[in-house]
Amino acid sequence: HRLAIVFGGRSTEHAISCVSARGVLAAVDREKYEVIPVGIAPDGRWLVLPDDPAVLAGVGQELPQVRPEAGRGVVLPPDPNGASLVAVEAAPGGVPAVAGALGDLDVDVVFPVLHGPYGEDGTIQGLLEMAGLPYVGSGVFASAAAMDKQHMKTLLAAAGLPVGPYAVLRAGETLSEAEKRRLGLPVFVKPARGGSSIGISRVDAWADLDTAIKTARESDPKVLVEAAILGREIECGVLDALGGGPPETSLPAEIVVDSAAGFYDFAAKYSSDATRLDVPADLPAGIADRVRAAAGAAFQALDCAGLARVDVFLTAAGEVVLNEVNTMPGFTPSSLFPRMWAASGLDYPALVERLIQLALR
Ligand code: DAL
Ligand code: MG
Repeated sequence: HRLAIVFGGRSTEHAISCVSARGVLAAVDREKYEVIPVGIAPDGRWLVLPDDPAVLAGVGQELPQVRPEAGRGVVLPPDPNGASLVAVEAAPGGVPAVAGALGDLDVDVVFPVLHGPYGEDGTIQGLLEMAGLPYVGSGVFASAAAMDKQHMKTLLAAAGLPVGPYAVLRAGETLSEAEKRRLGLPVFVKPARGGSSIGISRVDAWADLDTAIKTARESDPKVLVEAAILGREIECGVLDALGGGPPETSLPAEIVVDSAAGFYDFAAKYSSDATRLDVPADLPAGIADRVRAAAGAAFQALDCAGLARVDVFLTAAGEVVLNEVNTMPGFTPSSLFPRMWAASGLDYPALVERLIQLALR
């Protein structure tokens, strides 16, 4: 089979996608698949690359300093050794392609290793549907629904799954006094359609709210203000079963946050000493089962397909509160999704193979 691996992209998570793709590119079985790497630059240009380690050496090699610029995605430092497509574009053998050229590349299956808007949100999924190409992961609807934290919570709540209190601020809006009383402090202020905690602030005093909203709006005009849920941060991997039927869930993992920001922020996510990750989480079997049941239910509530990582809070009272569903979770070496599956008996190459097989089904 000819397998296209699409990475980079226009979102603020461009660099994370490059690091994720680096892992996936290294794990694909070249005996079974002819790999066609397709890079998307932060400005949206597509580049078809040779499957040559010398050319791909710059992709996702290290996490650069990420500097989200309003609406434009991440600007990468002009470091030829950084995780930048700029480096790749300078490499020999790359062929610029028309956006959406996958249909012309004669590929059999596509793995869009893209995080955030223009990749994890149904847009590339729509392109692939139009081209009649099978692809890894959720379809148009689930991708779009899970990308938008407002609509994700609406659907999860409608399916009877517990979500925390939140308010939605559209462009120009701010939080009313009544909403401040309802949510209480601290709150988390988030871009509605973001990822990797980019643009998220924890607010401990209302005087800091406006700055937090402004920061979130650099990524998205629509902003969510969420009440802090006191509890442990637990994540769970979900995978469709090859034989059909209900999805399978991984052993859950726990994020034990020790970050200056007071939450699992970008630095805590990708600089491994800022956070302790317990894989698997130290949970009584009954609680782990409830987390896994909630993760599977969330996956089905959004009509997800292929894979997802479901993030929850576990309160002191033992309640499982859904935080979010990620339809293309990170695949970096420090990412929990592959690590949870490895702890559950499916190592990284086997996980990648399973995802491709699910797409080809
Ligand atoms: N959005 C990042 C990549 C994650 O969910 O892992
Ligand atoms: Mg997310």
